[in-house]
Amino acid sequence: MTLGAGKALLDRAALTLCFQLLCFVGSLHAFKTQLFGRHGGFFHSPEIPVSYETFYLDQKIDHFGFVEDGTFKQRYLVADKQWRSPGGPILFYTGNEGDITWFCNNTGFMWDVAEELGAMLVFAEHRYYGESMPFGADSFSDSKHLNYLTAEQALADFAILIQNVKLSRAGAQHSPVIAIGGSYGGMLAAWFRMKYPNVVIGALASSAPIWQFSGMVPCGDFYKVVTQDFAKSGSNCDTNIRASWGAINNLSATASGLEWLSEEFSLCAPLKTDKDMLDFKSWLQETWVNLAMVDYPYKAEFLQPLPRWPIQVACKYLALDSSVSDEQLLHGVSQAAKVYYNYTGSSACLNTSETATGSLGVLGWDYQACTEMVMPMCTDGVRDMFEPGEWNFQAYSDECHAMFDVRPRADWMGVLFGGKEIASHSNIIFSNGGLDPWSSGGVTHNVSESLVSIMIPDGAHHLDLRYANDLDPPSVREARKLELSYFWKWIRQAAKKHQRVAKSG
Ligand SMILES: *[C@@H]1O[C@H](CO)[C@@H](O)[C@H](O)[C@H]1NC(C)=O
Ligand SMILES: *[C@@H]1O[C@H](CO)[C@@H](O)[C@H](O)[C@H]1NC(C)=O
Ligand SMILES: *[C@@H]1O[C@H](CO)[C@@H](O)[C@H](O)[C@H]1NC(C)=O
Ligand SMILES: *[C@@H]1O[C@H](CO)[C@@H](O)[C@H](O)[C@H]1NC(C)=O
Ligand SMILES: *[C@@H]1O[C@H](CO)[C@@H](O)[C@H](O)[C@H]1NC(C)=O
Repeated sequence: MTLGAGKALLDRAALTLCFQLLCFVGSLHAFKTQLFGRHGGFFHSPEIPVSYETFYLDQKIDHFGFVEDGTFKQRYLVADKQWRSPGGPILFYTGNEGDITWFCNNTGFMWDVAEELGAMLVFAEHRYYGESMPFGADSFSDSKHLNYLTAEQALADFAILIQNVKLSRAGAQHSPVIAIGGSYGGMLAAWFRMKYPNVVIGALASSAPIWQFSGMVPCGDFYKVVTQDFAKSGSNCDTNIRASWGAINNLSATASGLEWLSEEFSLCAPLKTDKDMLDFKSWLQETWVNLAMVDYPYKAEFLQPLPRWPIQVACKYLALDSSVSDEQLLHGVSQAAKVYYNYTGSSACLNTSETATGSLGVLGWDYQACTEMVMPMCTDGVRDMFEPGEWNFQAYSDECHAMFDVRPRADWMGVLFGGKEIASHSNIIFSNGGLDPWSSGGVTHNVSESLVSIMIPDGAHHLDLRYANDLDPPSVREARKLELSYFWKWIRQAAKKHQRVAKSG
């Protein structure tokens, strides 16, 4: 997930930090270089692409009311070459805000473990994303049509879909189902197990910030993690980024300074107005956030094509001492930003309206953030390296109202999914990367014997869900092993239960 979607709102509001809507588009594991990588015991030959079949299921537009009786076609993908029928498990990807084929192609972990588990893989598209549009091309045309875009409706789709898959496939009737997801998809996986324990025997929720909501974690934690990543990746790195905002402000005071900045950063459109400056700074801030999310131990293409450990590469340009001039400091900053935007050397200019490639479903996520998914964020410039910015719910709400004619419900997620009171649930793994800013809202301690948290200290955003790679740190290898061992445990539990039920029935 990235902060990208909020920027449109932020630009309009000209507020520094009120709008940190999450756009989980970044969660898509798009990394061609890794897609067919070689790894311990498993091989993905470049000749054999990920292969699956595509299906569509008629789903109710509204699962919870009876007035809107229409249906739409939900897309889902099935890969059953490794499936042991009858009764082999089903790994079910709870799709997030994007094209499901992208998740499918890139959630390498599921493909890596399918054979060992004898599992069928099912990837379900989230309504309002990809092809699964409840009102076709009109789905985003007015707020009435968007009314059915909620996590609750998406979870109900998943439950109905699983029922359908099990009934329509010979040998699947008694297959235990495990939910898997990353980022917003990880939140859905966890909530799915909480709400439908009758449908899934357990869930792997990777980099799932289910506590990033109002009142659950301090609003500044997210940016603190970003800052720590930079602090440990090079000398003076966080300090110089912290100083850069003042230098930018200094230069933006004059027309020649603005011109210099525009040239130095090779911007597509020159900086002119105060609003341009706010946009520029929020774009730069988002750039550092995105780098933190994708600080992977190997070359990858995720939000952008990047070298291995990209923050270390960026920080090389920021190892300056405090005596440098504003221009020298900002030269370092522009070089560092270009690691993110121009690693392949193919970028002609930097566009401050863009921070991630291939963004999908941005509008949908904006709407979700403007209704249920209110995730407060703030900075203070002391514990983090950003310009101070307070969380301002009212301003946020006003922007949402202007954009979608709806107002967010700040406390609803806590009521709906239990907030921090989740101990009565079972069989959920919450995995978190120590480098991932989203770990700030994740479950990072063991809640109970069967609600376990796995920490991956050198992991960025859901590293564990990616294909295994030779350069993976031991912590992520261990995490995947542990995850798999829980899968087996849940499968054994389910088999025992099934036997008991069969005997007594
Ligand atoms: C996913 O992979 C399939 C088959 O390899 C390919 O046809 C499709 O374009 C890919 N989808 C995306 C979004 O990358
Ligand atoms: C900005 O300008 C002020 C006043 O000229 C100066 O003291 C300061 O060092 C400059 N740079 C930064 C990063 O604030
Ligand atoms: C990107 O890198 C290439 C190759 O080094 C360079 O020619 C080009 O000017 C760079 N683009 C930007 C926007 O800096
Ligand atoms: C910058 O990106 C925006 C949004 O994608 C696009 O509309 C605009 O044309 C781009 N500008 C340039 C100069 O490429
Ligand atoms: C939670 O428990 C598991 C199993 O004992 C352990 O491997 C893991 O490290 C614990 N997680 C945390 C965050 O302490």
